[in-house]
Amino acid sequence: MSQRKLFVTTALPYANGHFHIGHIMEYIQADTWVRAQRMQGNQVNFVGADDAHGAPIMIAAEKAGKTPQQFVADIASGRKQYLDGFHIAFDNWSNTDSPENHELSRQIYLDLKKAGFIETRTIEQFFDPEKNMFLPDRFIKGECPRCHAKDQYGDNCEVCSSVYAPTDLVNPYSALSGAKPVLKTSEHFFFKLSDPRAVEFLTEWTQNGQHVQPEVAAKIKEWFGTRTNPDGSTSEGLDDWDISRDAPYFGIEIPDAPGKYFYVWLDAPVGYLASLKNLLNRRGENYDAYMADPLLEQYHFIGKDIITFHTLFWPAMLHFSGRKTPTKICVHGFMTVNNGEKMSKSRGTGLDPLKYLALNMNPEWLRYYLGAKLNGKNEDIDFNAEDFMLRVNADLIGKYVNIASRAAGFIAKRFQGQLGSIGADSQALLDALQAPQAAIVQSYEARDTARAARDIMLLCDKVNSYVDANKPWELAKQDGQDARLHDVCTTCIQAFRLLTIYLKPMLPAVAAQVEGFLAIAPLQFADAQTLLPAGHVIGQYQHLMQRVAMEQLEALFEPPAAPVVEAPQPGGENNQAPTLGAVASSLPPEGAGSTLGRPGGAAIAPTITIDDFAKVDLRIAKIVDCQAVAGSTKLLQLTLDAGEGKTRNVFSGIASMYQPEQLVGKLTVLVANLAPRKMKFGISEGMVLAASHADEKAQPGIYVLEPFPGAQPGMRIH
Ligand code: 2FM
Ligand code: ZN
Repeated sequence: MSQRKLFVTTALPYANGHFHIGHIMEYIQADTWVRAQRMQGNQVNFVGADDAHGAPIMIAAEKAGKTPQQFVADIASGRKQYLDGFHIAFDNWSNTDSPENHELSRQIYLDLKKAGFIETRTIEQFFDPEKNMFLPDRFIKGECPRCHAKDQYGDNCEVCSSVYAPTDLVNPYSALSGAKPVLKTSEHFFFKLSDPRAVEFLTEWTQNGQHVQPEVAAKIKEWFGTRTNPDGSTSEGLDDWDISRDAPYFGIEIPDAPGKYFYVWLDAPVGYLASLKNLLNRRGENYDAYMADPLLEQYHFIGKDIITFHTLFWPAMLHFSGRKTPTKICVHGFMTVNNGEKMSKSRGTGLDPLKYLALNMNPEWLRYYLGAKLNGKNEDIDFNAEDFMLRVNADLIGKYVNIASRAAGFIAKRFQGQLGSIGADSQALLDALQAPQAAIVQSYEARDTARAARDIMLLCDKVNSYVDANKPWELAKQDGQDARLHDVCTTCIQAFRLLTIYLKPMLPAVAAQVEGFLAIAPLQFADAQTLLPAGHVIGQYQHLMQRVAMEQLEALFEPPAAPVVEAPQPGGENNQAPTLGAVASSLPPEGAGSTLGRPGGAAIAPTITIDDFAKVDLRIAKIVDCQAVAGSTKLLQLTLDAGEGKTRNVFSGIASMYQPEQLVGKLTVLVANLAPRKMKFGISEGMVLAASHADEKAQPGIYVLEPFPGAQPGMRIH
């Protein structure tokens, strides 16, 4: 099949709060999908951005004594540690206040106007008499006019997903002042979705089985039918959509309408295109030409709370402004934690992603666990601590990693690292592992990673049964069994490589380590149809993954010692009443400079024993040479003498701080027993120690460690 061209996004998070586990789940799902596409040779641009506009962000910035732009930039500077931490590799991260977004949003609006889809009307709107401003939808709360759930926002109901006008709310109140809002008139701009052309287009677009999941299409269908309005009357089709807000507002001013701004939800999805444009501009590529390719596919990953915006308003905006509509809207459900509270966009839970990372919990445990639960439907999933531990330990350690650890030692010790040939029964096993490649790729395509994980674990079971039947540890003790031992262990390594291919979208870092250990190029799905040749020399096996320990989970969910004051969080349009779990809200925001409980920007890791520490072999090493790395602005290449009678090659991300000549001749500290890592520029044989603040953007700088005089290369650090 020819190479596909894909443009992929995740929902743009409001720039008034840090990521919570719900964001991370969506990004992991999309990142896994993107990686699976790239492993098929498809070309992907995967972009995100901060959703910067709206009254809530304006109000929050004012409270913080910052301009909205500065406020948004400060939030943005905290994003990287989450994304890098969970191996989420966006190609670009922009924000909706970018020049690209201003221009594209205004252009789309003008095209819609030309097509006859914009009209102005004078409406009555809620005004806060105490704050003296029109109230944004999200600052008006009350009872949902349809399902009567209490404390719902002014624009849509989180319980029944209805979209309505704030004036439809029963018993409304201002969330800013608590005052009863009064009605005042103002001229607003509307996108005429009631136009029969819009209803016709959207009915076809949402119901033709191509763009949304069946369960989502069924939900949307309800919105097209005859609806009963709050006043008892009935309406057909869709309501017009109010797309303007009055000053004061942080947003994009509407062309030829001073004091009127686009409602944040008008320019937010345009931010997808703007971030892509920003990326392509930076690369010197042409955005219009890229978008004009009829084969370009556009995928948006979103949560089920924002279906309306993405399956009605957004495709209609694109279609009637003469633009390409999305290929698929991929909707996922919410996440609950420990069978607990529903996890929506507006609510965090006790699972704080940064705390997870600070506890040195492996990000790939979470990637795999979520992958093993997500099935491509918009169903909710639960993170359950015990289930997490059992699942990760049983599947990843017990079934997968074990295969390599059981065979690699014999290959190294008995066969000088060389793979041998494969007997007929072994070949049958490998055939059985190669056969489901297409089915596994298809599961990734359908975002049914639960099915992919299940199928891969069944393959692991087959391999483990083969190991148990052949008992390499016994073959190793028997005379005359060398050839069979070589065959069995080679088969295990071949099988392990195949399983690694299948797991790679979920476990990218482990896969990179395995590629280093097997001394092979980055694995693609097509590589599953080949095997390593007899005679191929593999590297030394290094432990790939620790087991999850109950203590880590206990620490993750442990409430903070000090009583938590619920911070008066800035509300987002969708983020008005944060009920972040105690753990999350007790942490100061990144970049805030507070070190309370987080010296250097990160909580102290859980206690370890002296035996744990002894596993890390730290040695004094002399930097005998140091070179810049062509093609990298971050790395320096160090040649180190750690008293071993040979030198080591180590790449270190310290180029921003040191010129190579400053380092030559100095002593430093080397992690001497770290598994060699295959990098783009070569193999790195260890790591030098350096100190930095956890929030590199807020407090840049990385400082290499140097011992007191007297230390000699090779000395161990205790
Ligand atoms: O619900 C939210 O968090 C919105 N900020 C999502 C916007 S998605 C896109 F339209 F930008
Ligand atoms: Zn409702």
